[in-house]
Amino acid sequence: MKLKIISESPKETQEIAGFFIKSVLKREPVSNKQAFVVSLEGDLGSGKTEFLKGVAKSLKLKEKVFSPTFLIMKSFPFSNKIKNSFKTLWHLDCYRLEKIKEIESLGFKEIISEPTNIIFIEWGNKVKKLLPLKHWKIKFKMLEKNTRILEFYIP
Ligand SMILES: Nc1ncnc2c1ncn2[C@@H]1O[C@H](COP(=O)(O)OP(=O)(O)OP(=O)(O)O)[C@@H](O)[C@H]1O
Ligand SMILES: [Mg+2]
Repeated sequence: MKLKIISESPKETQEIAGFFIKSVLKREPVSNKQAFVVSLEGDLGSGKTEFLKGVAKSLKLKEKVFSPTFLIMKSFPFSNKIKNSFKTLWHLDCYRLEKIKEIESLGFKEIISEPTNIIFIEWGNKVKKLLPLKHWKIKFKMLEKNTRILEFYIP
């Protein structure tokens, strides 16, 4: 199933992200097998990082999410325990990834098999092969300067 939402500003994208993570975590119990995985897909500047900033705000993370230049993955441990039993938010960016092996050597498989992780992967389409069968996918499409379509593929 696919759900399309239009965002008219970066602020709106952040609000949509907050709504998304809150409602999903409310309903989604921690799985016993795998992390909660969201693949973010779409062109450069289409709003993937902006979306993650909204997630981080909504989860009240102290540290700020930014667009990683060289870094591929970063973790944000939760200081409080309100997010069911989830413990850590992960921000992965596969834009600069050349070979799937690079991310495997960083412990990707261990991270996605840890049920207490919430993982957002920018350019997740580049590591599709490694994603668990059950994952969310959000496609970002640029319509105009400030307008984006967010397509949610519900697992
Ligand atoms: N409706 C909107 N939603 C999100 N971002 C918007 C919107 N309108 C304008 N923008 C701008 O578009 C840019 C989105 O940048 P962002 O870093 O989130 O893109 P990205 O998809 O993460 O790109 P990259 O693949 O380079 O990481 C920001 O400069 C933001 O201010
Ligand atoms: Mg980005």
